[in-house]
Amino acid sequence: MDIDLISPERFAHGHPHDQYDWLRANAPVYWHAEKNGPGFWAVTSYEHVYAVDRDFQNFSSKPTVMITDPLSEVTYGGFEMMLMTDPPKHTVLRRLVREEFLPAPTQGRIPRMQQLARQIVNDVIERGACDFVTQVAGEMPSYVIAELMGLPLDDGRELYKLTEIIHTSPEAQKPGEGAAAVQKMFEYGMGVIAEKRARPKDDLATKLLQAEVDGHKLHDMEFLLFFLLLVDAGGDTTRNLLSAGVLAMLQEPEKLAWLKADLPGRLPVAREELLRWTTPVIYMRRTATHDVALGDAQVKAGDKVVMFFGSANRDAAKFDRPAALDLARTPNEHISFGNGPHNCLGQHIARIEIDAVLVEVLTRMQDLTVAGDVSWLQSNFIAGPTHMNVTFKPGNRLA
Ligand code: HEM
Repeated sequence: MDIDLISPERFAHGHPHDQYDWLRANAPVYWHAEKNGPGFWAVTSYEHVYAVDRDFQNFSSKPTVMITDPLSEVTYGGFEMMLMTDPPKHTVLRRLVREEFLPAPTQGRIPRMQQLARQIVNDVIERGACDFVTQVAGEMPSYVIAELMGLPLDDGRELYKLTEIIHTSPEAQKPGEGAAAVQKMFEYGMGVIAEKRARPKDDLATKLLQAEVDGHKLHDMEFLLFFLLLVDAGGDTTRNLLSAGVLAMLQEPEKLAWLKADLPGRLPVAREELLRWTTPVIYMRRTATHDVALGDAQVKAGDKVVMFFGSANRDAAKFDRPAALDLARTPNEHISFGNGPHNCLGQHIARIEIDAVLVEVLTRMQDLTVAGDVSWLQSNFIAGPTHMNVTFKPGNRLA
């Protein structure tokens, strides 16, 4: 098997399941060469991905969770993004934002998210055709992140475009494009700092600016790194779940019909299967802090260890008939949100966004059909369609 889990073209139609299947069967902890780097361990079995994600003592999130090491000149003033820290520092940073994302406050957002989902479908329903990714699936997460941070909804959409550039593999774009998008995000974030300091509101951006760590307020760069993380993490992940999930169901219409026959009753279980099936985050990297055995592999201190979530989610040792989309699957302990200290902070919000959009789409956009080719994000980090033209029976706007 020709193994290449780096080149973006290998992800041009989604996860490379043929490679994952081979690796799980033959080398679940596999030494993967790297053209411009020292190589890394590709971890593809559920058991090992689960173990690495929880074991922050042996597998650190520093200096980065990306396969490519950061350039030495990019130091962010010595400050770190929460995603790229370990406990106890990680615990302190996560505590600053944790409350907003707990199940109870998140539940309180349901009516507003349902209203946003209704508005999103209203905006396309009379036309009978749209790009499902940009005009439906992508609208929700950009609105939600804007509301959380207290920003105008249209700005959420612009920030979301930057997220897409940041998540595109460097090989698939012009040199410097990703760095320029991060820079633009920071420039926007500086404006947020000025605005929220001048006119504090009841939103997450204001809370972060007022928060104290070890008796001092967050430095501007600490805020900007939080801002970048929240906008990026909450953006195209949810969009991709919605687009790839709807695409998967349209390809198996009898399963979609089964779901629609009792949408409120079946959606909570079906949504978890869509999360397993689509796995929007392809990988997270760790760096070994000690020499440690992982399966048959002898990992050395300093080695890169990369968890492939989409492979773990298709592991037959964990899931019955893993290659089947089973919208009634229970139990379903997928690992799409990770599971260690860094497990997805936004997972409760994501689930509400997904449910709200799917209810509107599946009840109102009748005869939904994919029209033409679907293009995918050129990325080995985030998986999902970037454009998916659909047609449907035109309907009426709802109040
Ligand atoms: C379907 C949608 C989503 C998926 C599949 C997803 C997946 C993930 C994954 C795999 C991780 C890393 C877990 C690990 O390393 O163990 C993560 C972390 C994170 N996610 Fe999500 N995510 C989604 C939506 C969201 C949303 C909507 C938000 C915010 C509004 C969000 C915020 C975060 C944050 C802040 C982290 C970092 C947590 C930490 O470092 O402690 N995510 N997510």
